[in-house]
Amino acid sequence: MRVFVTGASGHLAAAVIPELIAAGHDVLGLARSEAAAATVAGYGARVHRGDLADPESIGGAAAPCDGVIHLAFDHEQLRSGNLPAAVGAERAALDALGDALAGTGKPLVAASGTLGLATAGLGRPGTEHDTGGPSGRSGNENAVIALAERGVRASVVRVPPITHSELDRTGLARTLIAIARRSGVSGYPGDGANRWPAGHTRDVAHLFCLALENAPAGTRWHAAGQEGITMREIAGRIAEHLGIQAVSIPADQVQAHFGPLAMFVALDNPTSTQVTRQVLGWAPTHPDLFADFDTCDYFTAPAPGH
Ligand SMILES: NC(=O)c1ccc[n+]([C@@H]2O[C@H](COP(=O)([O-])OP(=O)(O)OC[C@H]3O[C@@H](n4cnc5c(N)ncnc54)[C@H](OP(=O)(O)O)[C@@H]3O)[C@@H](O)[C@H]2O)c1
Repeated sequence: MRVFVTGASGHLAAAVIPELIAAGHDVLGLARSEAAAATVAGYGARVHRGDLADPESIGGAAAPCDGVIHLAFDHEQLRSGNLPAAVGAERAALDALGDALAGTGKPLVAASGTLGLATAGLGRPGTEHDTGGPSGRSGNENAVIALAERGVRASVVRVPPITHSELDRTGLARTLIAIARRSGVSGYPGDGANRWPAGHTRDVAHLFCLALENAPAGTRWHAAGQEGITMREIAGRIAEHLGIQAVSIPADQVQAHFGPLAMFVALDNPTSTQVTRQVLGWAPTHPDLFADFDTCDYFTAPAPGH
């Protein structure tokens, strides 16, 4: 299959593209800079130079391909507090991808996040059948699912907020560790009982590849190897590694302590993967978060620049 991959120079693509190539697929990767192009070419993929801000170019690259995996997202805008701009740019690109694939039955697998269900007030683990709100990234997710009615084999993989491995350079595990280093304490919000799911990069990547090959149109999948780890446990393990205290951060200090992460850190996001495992046969095989804390360079590498 000729597969167009957006976000081809990012974290998840570092596992998705090699897996696709090893399975015999021909990959065309989107790159918006020389550095990104070199990264993509280094995986053995062909390069399409372009930007999400140019939907025509994105659609033009997708049209001759047999399928698309959409991973691009402007996390820099998210970090600088401009989530609506990042969501809007992604939506324009998704519309272009949809137009390019409409009526073909070709697969489009788009990334989203499990956190979209954390604000849905479910009161139980979120399932693959649950949907988030109409706006933000959940709105983009809904737009992907709607492409099923236009003859696209569209599906969504919801990625857990902590996706970890030696390939992770700027993910939220590294952000939590950087905040703990900077502040001298490993904080958790309130009583720290809220849960975050986690997944190993290669397990998450494998789910994208399974979805590309087998996901029926209009389906959502959950890539959480661990369905919910309490923030207190995560903070405690970070504290042990850094030799500092794990402490509760009261609600009125969460913003000051966690900065841009404050809008997510207190969310409770237990995530079921039962349907994903049963229907697609997804079975995570790689190390869990705390094993990667022990063996990857999370506590020895320089902190990321955010
Ligand atoms: N990794 C996680 O922990 C996690 C958790 C939840 C959800 N997700 C979702 O999974 C997807 C992939 O995540 P990731 O961790 O691989 O992200 P990442 O490492 O930040 O990579 C993002 C990719 O998007 C590209 N990109 C950003 N803005 C672009 C633009 N305007 N035009 C073209 N390309 C652009 C980046 O290119 P450059 O290299 O040029 O910057 C990079 O290739 C995203 O939708 C993300 O939100 C990831």
